[in-house]
Amino acid sequence: MKKDLWNLLLKKGLLLCTLFIPILSLSAQDVTIPILTANHAIVLQTDNINRLHTVYFGKSLTNENEYKSVAKSFNFKDSDAGIYDGAYTPAGTWNLSEPAIQITHADGNRSLELKYFSHEQKNIDENTTLTSVILKDPNYPFHVTLFYKVWKKENVIEQWTEIEHTEKSAILLQKYASANLYSTTKEFYLTTFQGGYAKEMQPAETKLVQGMRSVESKLGTRAMLLQSPNFILSFGKPASENEGSVMVGQLAWSGNFKLEFEIDSYKNLRLIAGINPYNSEYSLAPGQTFKTPSLIYALSNNGTGEASRNLHSWARKYRVLEGEGKRVTLLNNWEATYFDFDENKITALFKDAKNLGVDLFLLDDGWFGNKYPRNSDNAGLGDWQENVKKLPHGIGYLVKEATKAGIKFGIWIEPEMVNPKSELYEKHLDWVIRQPERPEIYYRNQLVLDLTNPEVQDHVFGIVDNLFTKNPELAFIKWDCNAVIYNAFSQYLKDKGIPQSQLYVDYVHGLYKVLDRIRMKYPKVPMMLCSGGGGRGDYELLKYFTEFWPSDDTEPIERIFMQWNYSYFFPSIVTDNHVTNWGKQPLKFRTDVASMGKLGFDIVAGKLSLNDKLFAKQAVCNYNAFKEIVWHGDLYRLVNPNEAEIAALMFVEQAKSKAIVFNYLVNTRQKITATERPVILNGLDPQKKYIIREINLYPGTHSTIDSTLVYSGDFLMKVGINPDVTLERTSVVLEVVEK
Ligand code: DGJ
Repeated sequence: MKKDLWNLLLKKGLLLCTLFIPILSLSAQDVTIPILTANHAIVLQTDNINRLHTVYFGKSLTNENEYKSVAKSFNFKDSDAGIYDGAYTPAGTWNLSEPAIQITHADGNRSLELKYFSHEQKNIDENTTLTSVILKDPNYPFHVTLFYKVWKKENVIEQWTEIEHTEKSAILLQKYASANLYSTTKEFYLTTFQGGYAKEMQPAETKLVQGMRSVESKLGTRAMLLQSPNFILSFGKPASENEGSVMVGQLAWSGNFKLEFEIDSYKNLRLIAGINPYNSEYSLAPGQTFKTPSLIYALSNNGTGEASRNLHSWARKYRVLEGEGKRVTLLNNWEATYFDFDENKITALFKDAKNLGVDLFLLDDGWFGNKYPRNSDNAGLGDWQENVKKLPHGIGYLVKEATKAGIKFGIWIEPEMVNPKSELYEKHLDWVIRQPERPEIYYRNQLVLDLTNPEVQDHVFGIVDNLFTKNPELAFIKWDCNAVIYNAFSQYLKDKGIPQSQLYVDYVHGLYKVLDRIRMKYPKVPMMLCSGGGGRGDYELLKYFTEFWPSDDTEPIERIFMQWNYSYFFPSIVTDNHVTNWGKQPLKFRTDVASMGKLGFDIVAGKLSLNDKLFAKQAVCNYNAFKEIVWHGDLYRLVNPNEAEIAALMFVEQAKSKAIVFNYLVNTRQKITATERPVILNGLDPQKKYIIREINLYPGTHSTIDSTLVYSGDFLMKVGINPDVTLERTSVVLEVVEK
């Protein structure tokens, strides 16, 4: 289709629904494809032999017609390594740099060429467009479709690819990235997040220099334990909260991932992200489609703050299950009892939950197993029958008792795993991922079940289905996953003649299949994703889970940093924060920190002092009054705890009439007498007038904040308010209300 005709149709609104550009041959086409968000553009363009390049990745231009001229301004085309800016770089022909895709054809040939064939741009709704581009190998019946889904207002892009062929027999996919981006900005700074048990999401920012920096997981399950698929890229200078061009992104895949950030010999950035090719060759039959996971990112020209807010809005509106809905506050018994409980202990805790004012009681690990009772983490996992000694009247009785006490009831499961000391292991050794000829290797005394096997999928689905069938009032599931995959070997794949290298990928597909079935039958029941803390948590799993558990580390000062880091990527409605006994901070401090997300408790609430009890009850009440703002409002990270002695975070209601500001002392080394500077607020209406009141006061204490003063939004966003954080007032929660 000629561009003039295209523009005419566009102007007349005739292409509102579908734009389809069928190009019936692979001869050279002069095609420019701008993929546009409100403020950002990715421009793809063909060259004179029909290869497709990313010629622009930056701020959107006022005049759309000018995108086609962008490439002429650059001269990066004579690299000995091939063309760095390929839109989806193939291996084995002209390209000698890191490929996005590498395959072996059915005839054993390992070369791949990809040329532009056609593209299509659809408006899904007013805010959402989907661009798909077909690239074909001129010598083989093999093609790849690149997808770019754009949410304009939020400046969020989701990219994935679909790979198909009609060769004579199966081909082998060796590398099959989700996205291949290219940017010609002058300098790049990358923040990645590493961790370990109880120290998830530790950030490290580096300037990218020539060569490759890759971030990856090979752990199989609990894939985020050591490295996270979340990253911040900053263009031109290090990332900052309110200025600069940034990309806040994630590979939404719940298994092994690999993100490759390569600075090429022109000092431009190549970004290739996808499933980790490590031990993951995938056999693709003719006619079958391989869909890669998605790379999801928000772009902003105003720093990480705006990028996060946009990603949060997008996640709530378009991605997370019940993202715009409600959540339940809860009392969990894990740290209150560990495995040591019985029916009486648990029902007594129901009363504590009711007195606290939370919505639900969550029964954690340890309720099951009879031949091998689950009294520690070395036995019983896999045997999902109530332990008759601990719970002689079963879960049904607990659900009834909870209802009588006026609260809901939820339960912990870890359905993908098994202890060798279990009836399940004795009965179904073939369901277990293990090398039959080698000694077993355990992680937390357990092994992973083989979710590539449909029988195992039925088993895992059955655990959840059985719980709900027997206890229709069950109101919450905590789904844990504590082990990584050692000794990767699947008996099922062997029996079916499927290559073992598909285990890591088919495991994750199996998991999604089970979750699809669960959500088909139980569409809305809240489910918390947990993985020995934050070993899992991505936007693919959050289609099925309403929330996730970021870490077992609930020491509140550490937790401020951790929640801060998670907040770059996730809205607070999906991060579960519990008040526990970790650390030395008072109950008020712990509760205030946990209130910056979905609040829960994991303490023996009945044993609190009278004042603590009074405080906690009032704090839950206050939380109920402001939780809508925390869950659905806009987050402003005001004072970074890495850069100051305090941390301050603020949630603002969409209408800007109400906000909550959390302030904490994080550095007690210097004995500060009072916060020297005011905290400058953000996100308010400069024209509106506000009063500020301190809430969550501990019984017997008085606020030093004058709640009679009236401030303009303008004042609060230029001068700010001093929260008066001191050694006596280490945690200060302020409610900002329009007057
Ligand atoms: C690990 C989780 O992170 C904890 O909260 C708890 O549920 C234990 N597993 C139970 O085994």
